[in-house]
Amino acid sequence: MIELKTITPPVGDYGELGELGELANWRNDERVRPALRTGKLTFSSQQVEWANKVYYDNTCSYYFIYYNKILVGYCGLDKISFENKTAEISLLINPDEHRQGHGMEAVILLLDIAFDKLKLKLIYAEVNDTTSAIEFWLAQGFMVEAFLKDRKFWKGKFYNSTILNIEKEDRP
Ligand SMILES: CC(C)(COP(=O)(O)OP(=O)(O)OC[C@H]1O[C@@H](n2cnc3c(N)ncnc32)[C@H](O)[C@@H]1OP(=O)(O)O)[C@@H](O)C(=O)NCCC(=O)NCCS
Repeated sequence: MIELKTITPPVGDYGELGELGELANWRNDERVRPALRTGKLTFSSQQVEWANKVYYDNTCSYYFIYYNKILVGYCGLDKISFENKTAEISLLINPDEHRQGHGMEAVILLLDIAFDKLKLKLIYAEVNDTTSAIEFWLAQGFMVEAFLKDRKFWKGKFYNSTILNIEKEDRP
């Protein structure tokens, strides 16, 4: 069973960094880095700073993802605008645990929070053409809204991105 738990400043069973150490490892994995907004390596100290920031910032809402109580990823709503009722979705699953349905189940729970708890209207994702993740978002009911040019510089080359979005009534 998948559960989401709010990301808090470090505590937990994964060393003094808590679960944040795992997040940094996954972000630095070569299977994941091309998908991220920044290709720069993530240092543990930055994760602590980030967790403090997102915990106290009401324009974002981030969660650890657990499968049967084991940490398998993290996800969140970013750039939340309560005025316009929009947010950007963010998701990362442990690269050793891909294609087991964890991402899909986490999105269902995260969209419940977005639409039912936070009362947002539209959630969007930006997917870099460095990955095939667009297929994942289409499978969750997201629809292509726009293509953006040269949004990601990765290994000496620019890549375009795709913006997808979903509203409550579009959910599968
Ligand atoms: C994209 C990501 C979140 C998907 O998570 P996941 O747990 O592996 O996905 P699921 O197992 O729930 O996949 C559900 C369906 O989505 C589609 N899908 C998932 N990953 C896919 C991929 N890399 N390429 C094509 N289709 C994919 C498939 O249809 C899949 O069903 P199937 O495995 O039965 O074929 C994960 O690959 C990831 O964390 N990637 C790195 C970070 C990232 O790209 N985040 C999104 C940034 S916008």
